[in-house]
Amino acid sequence: MAEAVLEYLDIASGRTYVDMTIGPGGHSQLILQNAPESFVIGIDRDEQALSMAQQRLAKFAGRFRLFHRRYSQLPQILEEMGIDKVDGILIDTGLSRDQMLDLARGFSFESTEGLDMRMDRSQKLTAYQVVNEYSARQLQEVLGSIGRRREVRKVANRIVSFREGSGPIRTTAQLAEIIAATIARPSKWGKKRHPATPWLMAIRIEVNNELQELKDGLHVAAEALLPGNGRLVVLTWAGHEHHLVRRELRALQKPSPSEPPAHPNAESPQPLIKYLTPKPLYPDEEEIRRNPAVRTCRLHAAQAV
Ligand SMILES: C[S@@+](CC[C@H](N)C(=O)[O-])C[C@H]1O[C@@H](n2cnc3c(N)ncnc32)[C@H](O)[C@@H]1O
Repeated sequence: MAEAVLEYLDIASGRTYVDMTIGPGGHSQLILQNAPESFVIGIDRDEQALSMAQQRLAKFAGRFRLFHRRYSQLPQILEEMGIDKVDGILIDTGLSRDQMLDLARGFSFESTEGLDMRMDRSQKLTAYQVVNEYSARQLQEVLGSIGRRREVRKVANRIVSFREGSGPIRTTAQLAEIIAATIARPSKWGKKRHPATPWLMAIRIEVNNELQELKDGLHVAAEALLPGNGRLVVLTWAGHEHHLVRRELRALQKPSPSEPPAHPNAESPQPLIKYLTPKPLYPDEEEIRRNPAVRTCRLHAAQAV
Protein backbone atom coordinates (compact mmCIF):
# COMPACT_ATOMS: atom_id res chain seq x y z
CA MET A 1 0.00 0.00 0.00
CA ALA A 2 3.05 2.30 0.41
CA GLU A 3 3.14 3.14 -3.31
CA ALA A 4 -0.57 3.96 -3.34
CA VAL A 5 -0.06 6.22 -0.30
CA LEU A 6 2.59 8.25 -2.14
CA GLU A 7 0.49 8.34 -5.31
CA TYR A 8 -2.67 9.55 -3.58
CA LEU A 9 -0.71 12.07 -1.51
CA ASP A 10 0.52 13.32 -4.88
CA ILE A 11 3.98 13.92 -3.41
CA ALA A 12 6.23 16.45 -5.12
CA SER A 13 9.34 18.46 -4.38
CA GLY A 14 9.00 21.55 -2.20
CA ARG A 15 5.65 20.62 -0.64
CA THR A 16 4.69 20.34 3.03
CA TYR A 17 3.17 17.17 4.43
CA VAL A 18 1.81 16.20 7.84
CA ASP A 19 2.31 12.64 9.00
CA MET A 20 -0.31 12.58 11.76
CA THR A 21 0.81 9.14 13.02
CA ILE A 22 4.51 9.09 12.28
CA GLY A 23 5.26 5.98 14.40
CA PRO A 24 8.76 4.72 13.59
CA GLY A 25 8.79 6.93 10.50
CA GLY A 26 8.37 4.48 7.61
CA HIS A 27 5.96 6.54 5.51
CA SER A 28 7.70 9.82 6.30
CA GLN A 29 11.01 8.38 5.17
CA LEU A 30 9.42 7.46 1.82
CA ILE A 31 7.98 10.95 1.42
CA LEU A 32 11.30 12.64 2.23
CA GLN A 33 13.21 10.28 -0.09
CA ASN A 34 10.83 10.60 -3.02
CA ALA A 35 9.94 14.29 -2.82
CA PRO A 36 13.21 16.29 -2.65
CA GLU A 37 13.01 19.56 -0.72
CA SER A 38 9.67 18.56 0.79
CA PHE A 39 9.06 19.11 4.52
CA VAL A 40 7.34 16.72 6.95
CA ILE A 41 5.59 17.65 10.17
CA GLY A 42 5.48 14.41 12.18
CA ILE A 43 3.04 13.86 15.04
CA ASP A 44 2.76 10.99 17.50
CA ARG A 45 1.31 10.66 20.98
CA ASP A 46 3.95 8.03 21.82
CA GLU A 47 7.37 9.40 22.81
CA GLN A 48 9.07 6.10 22.08
CA ALA A 49 7.74 6.16 18.51
CA LEU A 50 9.05 9.70 18.10
CA SER A 51 12.56 8.75 19.16
CA MET A 52 12.52 5.90 16.63
CA ALA A 53 11.33 8.32 13.94
CA GLN A 54 14.03 10.81 14.96
CA GLN A 55 16.74 8.18 14.45
CA ARG A 56 15.32 6.87 11.20
CA LEU A 57 14.96 10.34 9.68
CA ALA A 58 18.26 11.75 11.00
CA LYS A 59 19.72 11.93 7.49
CA PHE A 60 16.94 14.34 6.50
CA ALA A 61 17.79 16.82 9.28
CA GLY A 62 16.24 20.24 8.62
CA ARG A 63 13.44 18.75 6.52
CA PHE A 64 11.19 17.49 9.30
CA ARG A 65 9.95 18.49 12.73
CA LEU A 66 8.39 16.16 15.32
CA PHE A 67 5.63 16.88 17.82
CA HIS A 68 4.59 14.83 20.84
CA ARG A 69 0.86 15.51 20.56
CA ARG A 70 -2.45 13.97 19.62
CA TYR A 71 -3.22 14.53 15.96
CA SER A 72 -6.47 16.28 16.82
CA GLN A 73 -4.14 19.07 18.01
CA LEU A 74 -3.01 19.78 14.44
CA PRO A 75 -4.47 23.34 14.37
CA GLN A 76 -2.31 24.40 17.35
CA ILE A 77 0.79 22.81 15.80
CA LEU A 78 0.28 24.65 12.50
CA GLU A 79 -0.31 27.88 14.39
CA GLU A 80 2.94 27.39 16.35
CA MET A 81 4.78 26.85 13.06
CA GLY A 82 3.13 29.81 11.36
CA ILE A 83 1.72 27.55 8.62
CA ASP A 84 -1.77 28.12 7.27
CA LYS A 85 -2.37 25.19 4.90
CA VAL A 86 -0.45 22.05 3.90
CA ASP A 87 -0.23 19.97 0.72
CA GLY A 88 -0.87 16.54 2.12
CA ILE A 89 -1.87 14.73 5.31
CA LEU A 90 -1.49 11.05 6.16
CA ILE A 91 -3.29 9.21 8.98
CA ASP A 92 -2.21 5.58 9.52
CA THR A 93 -4.47 4.44 12.35
CA GLY A 94 -3.91 2.05 15.20
CA LEU A 95 -0.70 0.62 16.59
CA SER A 96 2.74 0.15 15.12
CA ARG A 97 4.32 -3.30 15.09
CA ASP A 98 6.88 -2.05 17.62
CA GLN A 99 4.16 -1.02 20.06
CA MET A 100 2.39 -4.35 19.66
CA LEU A 101 5.57 -6.41 20.10
CA ASP A 102 6.77 -4.48 23.16
CA LEU A 103 5.22 -6.68 25.86
CA ALA A 104 5.82 -4.02 28.54
CA ARG A 105 3.20 -1.87 26.80
CA GLY A 106 0.43 -4.42 27.45
CA PHE A 107 -1.15 -4.30 23.96
CA SER A 108 -0.61 -7.98 23.16
CA PHE A 109 -2.51 -11.00 24.49
CA GLU A 110 0.95 -12.41 25.31
CA SER A 111 1.81 -9.58 27.66
CA THR A 112 2.27 -10.60 31.29
CA GLU A 113 3.83 -7.29 32.31
CA GLY A 114 0.83 -5.12 33.13
CA LEU A 115 -2.53 -4.00 31.80
CA ASP A 116 -1.44 -0.66 30.34
CA MET A 117 -2.31 -0.10 26.63
CA ARG A 118 -1.59 3.66 26.68
CA MET A 119 -0.10 5.03 23.48
CA ASP A 120 0.92 8.11 25.46
CA ARG A 121 2.49 6.95 28.68
CA SER A 122 2.05 10.35 30.29
CA GLN A 123 -1.74 10.03 30.27
CA LYS A 124 -3.55 8.85 33.41
CA LEU A 125 -6.13 6.34 32.16
CA THR A 126 -4.79 2.81 31.69
CA ALA A 127 -6.42 -0.47 30.67
CA TYR A 128 -6.06 -1.60 34.31
CA GLN A 129 -8.53 1.07 35.36
CA VAL A 130 -10.96 0.36 32.52
CA VAL A 131 -10.96 -3.37 33.25
CA ASN A 132 -10.98 -3.21 37.04
CA GLU A 133 -12.90 -0.04 37.83
CA TYR A 134 -15.57 0.37 35.12
CA SER A 135 -19.07 -0.91 35.99
CA ALA A 136 -20.58 -3.79 33.99
CA ARG A 137 -22.68 -1.27 32.08
CA GLN A 138 -19.65 0.91 31.23
CA LEU A 139 -17.73 -2.18 30.11
CA GLN A 140 -20.63 -3.19 27.86
CA GLU A 141 -20.46 0.20 26.18
CA VAL A 142 -16.72 -0.05 25.68
CA LEU A 143 -16.84 -3.61 24.35
CA GLY A 144 -19.80 -2.78 22.09
CA SER A 145 -17.72 -0.22 20.18
CA ILE A 146 -16.35 -2.95 17.89
CA GLY A 147 -19.65 -4.70 17.15
CA ARG A 148 -20.05 -8.34 18.25
CA ARG A 149 -23.09 -7.26 20.24
CA ARG A 150 -24.29 -10.80 20.92
CA GLU A 151 -21.58 -11.59 23.44
CA VAL A 152 -20.91 -8.13 24.85
CA ARG A 153 -22.98 -8.51 27.98
CA LYS A 154 -21.59 -11.99 28.68
CA VAL A 155 -17.99 -10.77 28.47
CA ALA A 156 -18.63 -7.63 30.55
CA ASN A 157 -20.37 -9.67 33.26
CA ARG A 158 -17.60 -12.27 33.30
CA ILE A 159 -14.92 -9.58 33.78
CA VAL A 160 -16.88 -8.13 36.70
CA SER A 161 -17.58 -11.50 38.32
CA PHE A 162 -13.94 -12.52 37.94
CA ARG A 163 -12.58 -9.42 39.62
CA GLU A 164 -15.20 -9.67 42.41
CA GLY A 165 -14.33 -13.31 43.08
CA SER A 166 -10.57 -13.39 42.50
CA GLY A 167 -9.36 -9.79 42.74
CA PRO A 168 -8.06 -7.40 40.07
CA ILE A 169 -7.13 -8.59 36.58
CA ARG A 170 -3.47 -7.62 36.34
CA THR A 171 -2.18 -8.49 32.89
CA THR A 172 -3.37 -8.50 29.28
CA ALA A 173 -2.58 -12.23 29.04
CA GLN A 174 -4.87 -12.91 32.02
CA LEU A 175 -7.65 -10.76 30.54
CA ALA A 176 -7.29 -12.51 27.17
CA GLU A 177 -7.61 -15.92 28.86
CA ILE A 178 -10.74 -14.88 30.76
CA ILE A 179 -12.35 -13.56 27.57
CA ALA A 180 -11.36 -16.59 25.48
CA ALA A 181 -12.96 -18.91 28.06
CA THR A 182 -16.21 -16.89 27.90
CA ILE A 183 -16.84 -16.64 24.15
CA ALA A 184 -17.28 -18.99 21.24
CA ARG A 185 -14.25 -18.94 18.91
CA PRO A 186 -15.26 -17.52 15.53
CA SER A 187 -15.12 -20.56 13.22
CA LYS A 188 -13.46 -18.76 10.28
CA TRP A 189 -10.45 -17.71 12.38
CA GLY A 190 -7.14 -19.40 11.88
CA LYS A 191 -5.28 -20.84 14.88
CA LYS A 192 -2.78 -17.95 14.93
CA ARG A 193 -5.35 -15.29 15.82
CA HIS A 194 -6.26 -15.16 19.50
CA PRO A 195 -10.05 -15.15 20.03
CA ALA A 196 -9.75 -12.25 22.50
CA THR A 197 -8.10 -9.98 19.88
CA PRO A 198 -11.13 -7.78 18.99
CA TRP A 199 -12.12 -7.48 22.64
CA LEU A 200 -8.66 -6.32 23.64
CA MET A 201 -8.83 -3.83 20.78
CA ALA A 202 -12.07 -2.42 22.21
CA ILE A 203 -10.33 -1.83 25.57
CA ARG A 204 -7.39 -0.17 23.77
CA ILE A 205 -9.79 2.08 21.83
CA GLU A 206 -11.32 3.24 25.11
CA VAL A 207 -7.96 3.84 26.82
CA ASN A 208 -6.76 5.99 23.92
CA ASN A 209 -10.12 7.57 23.03
CA GLU A 210 -9.40 6.42 19.48
CA LEU A 211 -12.81 6.89 17.85
CA GLN A 212 -13.17 10.51 18.90
CA GLU A 213 -9.54 11.19 17.95
CA LEU A 214 -10.05 9.73 14.48
CA LYS A 215 -13.25 11.68 13.92
CA ASP A 216 -11.65 14.94 15.11
CA GLY A 217 -8.47 14.16 13.17
CA LEU A 218 -10.35 13.83 9.88
CA HIS A 219 -12.10 17.15 10.44
CA VAL A 220 -8.98 19.13 11.39
CA ALA A 221 -7.13 17.53 8.47
CA ALA A 222 -9.82 18.52 5.96
CA GLU A 223 -9.64 22.11 7.27
CA ALA A 224 -5.85 22.25 7.01
CA LEU A 225 -5.52 21.15 3.37
CA LEU A 226 -4.60 23.60 0.66
CA PRO A 227 -7.82 24.20 -1.31
CA GLY A 228 -7.75 22.77 -4.81
CA ASN A 229 -5.03 20.16 -4.62
CA GLY A 230 -4.38 19.30 -0.93
CA ARG A 231 -4.62 15.55 -0.35
CA LEU A 232 -5.71 13.42 2.61
CA VAL A 233 -4.83 9.73 2.81
CA VAL A 234 -6.11 7.48 5.60
CA LEU A 235 -5.07 3.88 6.21
CA THR A 236 -7.48 1.91 8.38
CA TRP A 237 -6.92 -1.55 9.81
CA ALA A 238 -10.20 -2.69 11.37
CA GLY A 239 -13.89 -2.76 10.43
CA HIS A 240 -15.03 -0.06 12.86
CA GLU A 241 -12.34 2.30 11.46
CA HIS A 242 -13.23 1.59 7.81
CA HIS A 243 -16.86 2.54 8.55
CA LEU A 244 -16.03 5.62 10.60
CA VAL A 245 -13.69 7.02 7.95
CA ARG A 246 -16.15 6.43 5.11
CA ARG A 247 -18.97 8.04 7.08
CA GLU A 248 -16.91 11.11 8.06
CA LEU A 249 -15.37 11.64 4.61
CA ARG A 250 -18.82 11.44 3.04
CA ALA A 251 -20.08 14.00 5.56
CA LEU A 252 -17.15 16.32 4.81
CA GLN A 253 -17.95 16.01 1.14
CA LYS A 254 -21.58 17.00 1.73
CA PRO A 255 -21.71 19.04 4.92
CA SER A 256 -25.18 19.34 6.38
CA PRO A 257 -25.98 22.76 7.84
CA SER A 258 -25.73 22.44 11.63
CA GLU A 259 -27.92 25.52 12.05
CA PRO A 260 -30.70 26.85 9.85
CA PRO A 261 -29.41 29.60 7.51
CA ALA A 262 -29.49 33.10 9.03
CA HIS A 263 -31.61 34.36 6.10
CA PRO A 264 -33.20 32.65 3.09
CA ASN A 265 -30.44 33.72 0.69
CA ALA A 266 -27.56 32.66 2.98
CA GLU A 267 -25.06 30.38 1.26
CA SER A 268 -25.19 26.73 2.28
CA PRO A 269 -21.91 25.34 3.71
CA GLN A 270 -19.33 24.45 1.06
CA PRO A 271 -17.92 20.92 0.87
CA LEU A 272 -14.33 20.76 2.14
CA ILE A 273 -13.24 17.72 0.19
CA LYS A 274 -13.94 15.46 -2.72
CA TYR A 275 -13.89 11.80 -1.71
CA LEU A 276 -11.57 10.11 -4.23
CA THR A 277 -12.12 6.51 -3.11
CA PRO A 278 -15.78 5.90 -2.27
CA LYS A 279 -14.69 2.26 -2.55
CA PRO A 280 -11.52 2.05 -0.41
CA LEU A 281 -8.43 0.43 -1.92
CA TYR A 282 -7.42 -3.09 -0.83
CA PRO A 283 -3.93 -4.60 -0.82
CA ASP A 284 -3.49 -7.08 -3.67
CA GLU A 285 -2.86 -10.78 -3.15
CA GLU A 286 0.85 -10.52 -3.88
CA GLU A 287 1.28 -7.90 -1.16
CA ILE A 288 -0.73 -9.99 1.32
CA ARG A 289 1.45 -13.01 0.50
CA ARG A 290 4.60 -10.99 1.22
CA ASN A 291 3.17 -9.38 4.36
CA PRO A 292 0.06 -11.08 5.76
CA ALA A 293 -0.40 -8.31 8.37
CA VAL A 294 -1.51 -5.97 5.59
CA ARG A 295 -4.61 -8.04 4.69
CA THR A 296 -7.05 -5.90 6.73
CA CYS A 297 -5.64 -2.56 5.51
CA ARG A 298 -7.87 -0.18 3.52
CA LEU A 299 -6.78 3.08 1.89
CA HIS A 300 -9.13 6.07 1.73
CA ALA A 301 -8.21 9.27 -0.10
CA ALA A 302 -9.72 12.71 -0.49
CA GLN A 303 -8.80 15.95 -2.23
CA ALA A 304 -9.47 19.44 -0.90
CA VAL A 305 -11.87 21.50 -3.02
C1 LIG B 1 0.38 2.28 12.48
S1 LIG B 1 1.47 3.31 13.38
C2 LIG B 1 2.15 4.35 12.15
C3 LIG B 1 3.29 3.75 11.40
C4 LIG B 1 3.90 4.72 10.40
N1 LIG B 1 2.94 5.11 9.39
C5 LIG B 1 5.13 4.15 9.73
O1 LIG B 1 5.14 4.02 8.49
O2 LIG B 1 6.13 3.85 10.41
C6 LIG B 1 0.38 4.38 14.21
C7 LIG B 1 1.04 5.39 15.12
O3 LIG B 1 0.06 6.39 15.39
C8 LIG B 1 0.17 6.81 16.72
N2 LIG B 1 -1.14 7.36 17.07
C9 LIG B 1 -2.32 6.72 17.15
N3 LIG B 1 -3.29 7.57 17.46
C10 LIG B 1 -2.74 8.81 17.55
C11 LIG B 1 -3.25 10.11 17.82
N4 LIG B 1 -4.53 10.30 18.05
N5 LIG B 1 -2.38 11.14 17.82
C12 LIG B 1 -1.06 10.95 17.56
N6 LIG B 1 -0.52 9.73 17.32
C13 LIG B 1 -1.35 8.67 17.31
C14 LIG B 1 0.55 5.56 17.47
O4 LIG B 1 1.22 5.89 18.68
C15 LIG B 1 1.49 4.87 16.47
O5 LIG B 1 2.83 5.22 16.69
